[in-house]
Amino acid sequence: MKRIVNIGVLVSGSGSNLQSIIDSIHNGKLDARIRIVISNNAEAYALKRAEANNIPTAVIDHRQFNDRDDFEMNLIEILNSHQVELVVLAGFMRILSSLFLDAFPMRVMNIHPALLPSFQGIHGQTQAYDYGVKFSGCTVHFADAGIDTGPIIIQAVVPVFDNDTADSLQQRILKEEHRIYPQAIQFFAEGRVVIEGRKVRVINSRSMEESSLHNPLLEDF
Ligand code: GAR
Repeated sequence: MKRIVNIGVLVSGSGSNLQSIIDSIHNGKLDARIRIVISNNAEAYALKRAEANNIPTAVIDHRQFNDRDDFEMNLIEILNSHQVELVVLAGFMRILSSLFLDAFPMRVMNIHPALLPSFQGIHGQTQAYDYGVKFSGCTVHFADAGIDTGPIIIQAVVPVFDNDTADSLQQRILKEEHRIYPQAIQFFAEGRVVIEGRKVRVINSRSMEESSLHNPLLEDF
């Protein structure tokens, strides 16, 4: 029998990654059940997406707590009360301390819109665009106590074109986010994710063929 993993999704904004997870569950590709969607922002459109799919929601506004510990204890309590096994950060714009992470050891995933460890922090897409890289992408990783520093599960690479704007690059990256996040969660649901120090191995995953990418393309070299 297939194992269904109970997930809790933490959001702050639009929730397009949440939507890709919901869609992947609906089309039978992702063996997960979203037990709760929690937002620190009552206005987040992600909450509407959850409600439209009959997924329980909670708003936990960090500004209503005395300190970070109180806020995080509240998050932990709600997630535990919904038997959440894996916490999925999907555009959640608060930093989580080791108090929270210790409650879910190596069971908090995050998506970042850049090829980590480059362009950590906020606006990873714009940072990469402004830097002038020829490739960027996105990364799903386990969260640790640093900012965007935890062990990497999967990455997608996209080219940057001469006529890109920060916005067009962001859209290209986001499209890949919507593919790799459900895949990473499915690897976890299937019990195929092995963490060895900084390295994550996905049992029986197919590797990219040995090849290189060039942008611009090489001409006779
Ligand atoms: C996504 O691009 C995600 O990678 C990014 O926020 C966006 C949320 O979009 N996360 C971070 O920058 C975290 N440092 P969504 O609400 O439409 O899923």
